[in-house]
Amino acid sequence: MASDLASEIKKRRTFAIISHPDAGKTTLTEKFLLYGGQINLAGSVKGKATARHAVSDWMEIEKERGISVTSSVLQFEYNGCCINILDTPGHQDFSEDTYRTLMAADSAVMVIDGGKGVEAQTRKLFKVCGRRGIPIFTFINKMDREARDTFDLVDEIEKELGIATCPVNWPIGSGKEFKGVYDRASKSVLLFSDTQKGTKEGKEEIIPVDDRERLAEKIGEEALDQLLGEVELLDGASVEFDQDEVDHGRLSPVFFGSALTNFGVEVFLENFLKMTSSPLPRVSDQGVIDPVERPFSAFVFKIQANMNKAHRDRVAFMRICSGKFDAGMDVWHVQGGKSVRLSQPQQMMADDRHMVNEAYAGDIIGIFDPGIYSIGDTLCMPEDKFRFSGIPTFAPEHFARVRQVDTMKRKQFVKGVMQIAQEGAIQIFQELSGGMEEIIVGVVGVLQFEVLQYRLKNEYSVEIRLEQLAYEHIRWIKNKDVDLDRITGTSDMKKIQDLKGNPLLLFVNSWSIGMTLDRNEGLILEEFNEE
Ligand code: G4P
Repeated sequence: MASDLASEIKKRRTFAIISHPDAGKTTLTEKFLLYGGQINLAGSVKGKATARHAVSDWMEIEKERGISVTSSVLQFEYNGCCINILDTPGHQDFSEDTYRTLMAADSAVMVIDGGKGVEAQTRKLFKVCGRRGIPIFTFINKMDREARDTFDLVDEIEKELGIATCPVNWPIGSGKEFKGVYDRASKSVLLFSDTQKGTKEGKEEIIPVDDRERLAEKIGEEALDQLLGEVELLDGASVEFDQDEVDHGRLSPVFFGSALTNFGVEVFLENFLKMTSSPLPRVSDQGVIDPVERPFSAFVFKIQANMNKAHRDRVAFMRICSGKFDAGMDVWHVQGGKSVRLSQPQQMMADDRHMVNEAYAGDIIGIFDPGIYSIGDTLCMPEDKFRFSGIPTFAPEHFARVRQVDTMKRKQFVKGVMQIAQEGAIQIFQELSGGMEEIIVGVVGVLQFEVLQYRLKNEYSVEIRLEQLAYEHIRWIKNKDVDLDRITGTSDMKKIQDLKGNPLLLFVNSWSIGMTLDRNEGLILEEFNEE
């Protein structure tokens, strides 16, 4: 039994795919599913148009806007591994959930558009991954289109993101001249053919680099010479692959390919599954919790409200950190201080929810939430009663002053914003001397303002007036017993507090943050709040 448990856990790979919008995250995910045998033709299930319709049943607002506000988990088997892909919301629905989802992953795949390089959203998501020190794998996509110089791309990742890179393969040309990739370990070339579009059956031709004659015939003398020159340069300059460095998120293996034409995807998936880790131990207030040695434990990383409007229910998504989950089991809800039965456990596959009877460390399950869970809560066996370190609060980037139109509805207004904040969709701040009649709401993605307005109206019958503010940065003041009056900043700086009374500063631009730090010696400002 125990060894069954261990092998079930060891075969799990739980990761998130991060990218800037349009780099190819959806396409790559589709291709992964294709290899997992989940769909016959990529694009038929999670093509954006269909996905948006299907998932949009979960919330009315999505139907109106035609975008997905939720994220789901995709589970499938490939090569003996049980893969959980955590779908991180992007585009307009980019929100704090996107960051929090990364807390549930054991590694991240970073998709970069070869024509664009590192972009804004990649940078933000990377920062969150980097902070946890989880392994990060880079897939440089769209090589069938004109791409930037390969050395420049790799260099940019190193400089901008501050991580060493180790190219596992190397592209031969790009765009119309894209000929394939050179695999550094086997010293052979995988030839590009876009006959594979959409299917996985396309033929793959591999030629050892020593077979110069055949290679030259296939890719041309010029491309071959250039490849050999680049490989020599690369071998001389790049860091050697080191699994330990990868495990600690200090070295990112880099792959090149074209998700659209299915080129390089399987090579990537195979290598990635070997290099990434099975469920990692998690830190608790009683030390490190080993995924195999300890019985069931999990933490809540996301709360999704009103998936089914008729029932007004909430689903708490939890990442299982250790042991095995059996449907209907009684566990200890640490923050609530009582025993709970985990009822109606569900797993998600694209738009389809189904019940699960058992799940293991590494898996994500959604549990019916009667309103008792908060983000970061721990569930474990009654005899354990430990707490996982909490999920930090991430700095919102958009702010609005919010007040209710009808002051008679104060109670509903407060209840509504408090509940929505508890789900983690928004953060609430106040003026230093302010009450709850006028609050400052901070969100990571602007869509959340609309979600807030919509939900307050529909669920709490409260109309609000929302005035967007020019601030873009918020920082928690980490100095203990700070005297707020003595902090001097730029004229656009604003002092506020959160509901627990923690002091914060709002800034219009990052330059003001620098100025404020310069003017106030010893001031410690943070972008994440752990309390
Ligand atoms: P995202 O989830 O990261 O936002 O990106 P997504 O996969 O939706 O891809 C964005 C666009 O880039 C899509 O085109 C997609 O077909 C294209 N794309 C993805 N991978 C590759 C690739 O390897 N090569 C090329 N040439 N294009 C790629 P679209 O026209 O914007 O969307 P759609 O109408 O095709 O869905």
